[in-house]
Amino acid sequence: MKKILITGGAGFIGSHVVRRFVRQYPGYRIVNLDKLTYAGNLLNLRDVENAPNYRFVRGDINDFAFLKDLFLRERFDGVIHLAAESHVDRSIDNPDAFVRTNVLGTVNLLNAARMLWNGNYEGKRFYHISTDEVYGALGNEGLFTEQTPYDPHSPYSASKAASDHFVRAYGDTYGLPVVISNCSNNYGPYQFPEKLIPLTIRNIIRRQPIPVYGRGENVRDWLYVEDHAQAIDLIFHRGQAGETYNIGGNNEQRNIDVVEKLCEITDELLGRQPAGTSKELIRFVRDRAGHDWRYAIDTSKIKQTLGWAPRTSWDEGLRKTVRWYLENTDWLEAVTSGAYRDYYDKMYKNRLQS
Ligand code: NAD
Ligand code: DAU
Repeated sequence: MKKILITGGAGFIGSHVVRRFVRQYPGYRIVNLDKLTYAGNLLNLRDVENAPNYRFVRGDINDFAFLKDLFLRERFDGVIHLAAESHVDRSIDNPDAFVRTNVLGTVNLLNAARMLWNGNYEGKRFYHISTDEVYGALGNEGLFTEQTPYDPHSPYSASKAASDHFVRAYGDTYGLPVVISNCSNNYGPYQFPEKLIPLTIRNIIRRQPIPVYGRGENVRDWLYVEDHAQAIDLIFHRGQAGETYNIGGNNEQRNIDVVEKLCEITDELLGRQPAGTSKELIRFVRDRAGHDWRYAIDTSKIKQTLGWAPRTSWDEGLRKTVRWYLENTDWLEAVTSGAYRDYYDKMYKNRLQS
């Protein structure tokens, strides 16, 4: 029996990873450790919460005494580390929380794993989930490979880059069996509506202005979240210790095209005539500071070594996503009550008025 710690399992990607592991591996014990910040929500895991191979623990990766106790009690064989502050705009507003959780919290987890395993690394694995943003920004040409030098621009990506460096350093220095993956933009059910796609869907439903930064020409490479969870499963089980794997959707889109497509699909599913009228809600607003121009991933390594490729087409993934948000307005209401309104006003009020 394997005992696996998944951190950040109540968040967007983490909840898909927890669901996948709980269902695919009834013989494993899956412990989900999450602080339940504004971004973490146990509603994301209702369908697996009573599974016999699953346990939720509320806790903070910044609390080393708590981590040490948890590791000694549970004696994990593997760690899949997703807990993080994840939103670029929030990192511009308040970088400190990103340094604490993403950098210091990751080092705490590395120390806890090192303490428990104590040099006996047979069958052990520390898997760190990271982002393509550590590579910086591309111009109109080229792709990020695993060899692209790190060049982060936002406090978020700088904190993720620092955490990647610590993970590699623990591999090189102490022999900890680490593996890292750097993924492009995810989308799908349960994504907190501070990110572009769910924020746009929510505003279309509510007939509110849709804020598009700058001219909407920045490019992101979008991947359906369940395809990412599948890649994580594969890398956790078959990836080589000490290696890095880039994960992407082979699906570059300009932000304005994403938003317009969402207007068309959402209008169609809502029966708004003619489909696409919600494009009237689009507002071009002041750009994000240090806004990275383009991200795009070269996925050849994971394809050639582990046989992974994204399965969900852009059209299918977006339709599934919009349908999910339309069918789960209770979830949307629950996560956007209270503090979300203060956040939204702070981030968007001035931008949408000017
Ligand atoms: P998210 O913000 O939806 O979830 C983060 C989770 O971590 C939440 O459940 C939150 O409660 C928890 N958390 C935060 N601070 C914590 C702490 N101190 N202790 C314990 N738990 C804490 O994030 P996400 O979008 O699901 O991203 C998950 C991971 O994947 C992150 O490491 C992120 O950098 C990485 N990533 C995200 C994307 C993306 O497009 N969303 C792409 C590539 C990589
Ligand atoms: O590339 C992987 C990264 O993708 C992850 O590491 C991050 O955790 C995740 O948040 C995401 O970062 P982005 O900054 O690319 O995602 P976001 O959804 O915030 O923005 C996507 C693009 O849309 C970006 O170019 C900014 C733009 N945008 C965003 C928002 C929230 C807008 O135009 N308007 C908006 O209101």
